[in-house]
Amino acid sequence: MTARLRLGVNIDHVATVRNARGGEHPDPVRAAEIVARVGGDGITAHLREDRRHIRDADIRRIQDATDLPLNLEMAATEEMLKIALAHRPHAACIVPEKREERTTEGGLDAAGRHNHLASYCARLADAGIRVSLFIEPEARQIEAAMRLGAPVVEFHTGAYALAEGEERTAELARISDAAALAAKNGIEPHAGHGLTYDNVMPIAAIPQLAELNIGHYLIGEAIFTGLEPAVRRMRALMDDAR
Ligand code: PXP
Repeated sequence: MTARLRLGVNIDHVATVRNARGGEHPDPVRAAEIVARVGGDGITAHLREDRRHIRDADIRRIQDATDLPLNLEMAATEEMLKIALAHRPHAACIVPEKREERTTEGGLDAAGRHNHLASYCARLADAGIRVSLFIEPEARQIEAAMRLGAPVVEFHTGAYALAEGEERTAELARISDAAALAAKNGIEPHAGHGLTYDNVMPIAAIPQLAELNIGHYLIGEAIFTGLEPAVRRMRALMDDAR
């Protein structure tokens, strides 16, 4: 039997809508409370350098509002490190924000930027924060994550989400192989980006994956059905896939 797959809900785009008007509504904290109530396993939020969605003050408010683990997505910059160390989220997922930090596909270039990332991974780990690297499902990126001592990698599923037909089958195989390689080497594999009701099941069926982080589609569906049914439906599809 395969272990339960955790669902982390990325609430960034509640803040995107809030920020469009500059006020307080809709409040991402209210979204976090709903996710907690319906059995979500974690809250994911990306504090971007330009603060286009989640803002500094939201982080503490989210932490105060729920007991769910917070997965803070952040660029590897001194500014973000300082914020992470001040808030001590359960996990910090290092993501690329600038072109030069990315691979051609879009994940963090952990292999190419090893020297830059090493001190960030070490300082986060020293503070007891679980480090995750958002990478492409590629052996060289996993090997870099191993050298960096990251306990978790999150595979970028964007190429899978955009692909169709045989290309999608090939992308799925890439993610599946990468999850097996990571798990074999003691790294916990997660996945996310672009996942929807229609494409989540083949990813959720990959037995080594421990967590999916899903945001944009769920928040979009919430406009039509409410966040609670949207999270419940995604959860049911993930469970059906296992
Ligand atoms: N995981 C990571 C590391 C992300 O940066 C994001 C947001 O781009 C997601 C998951 C969620 O992606 P989406 O909003 O497309 O579901």
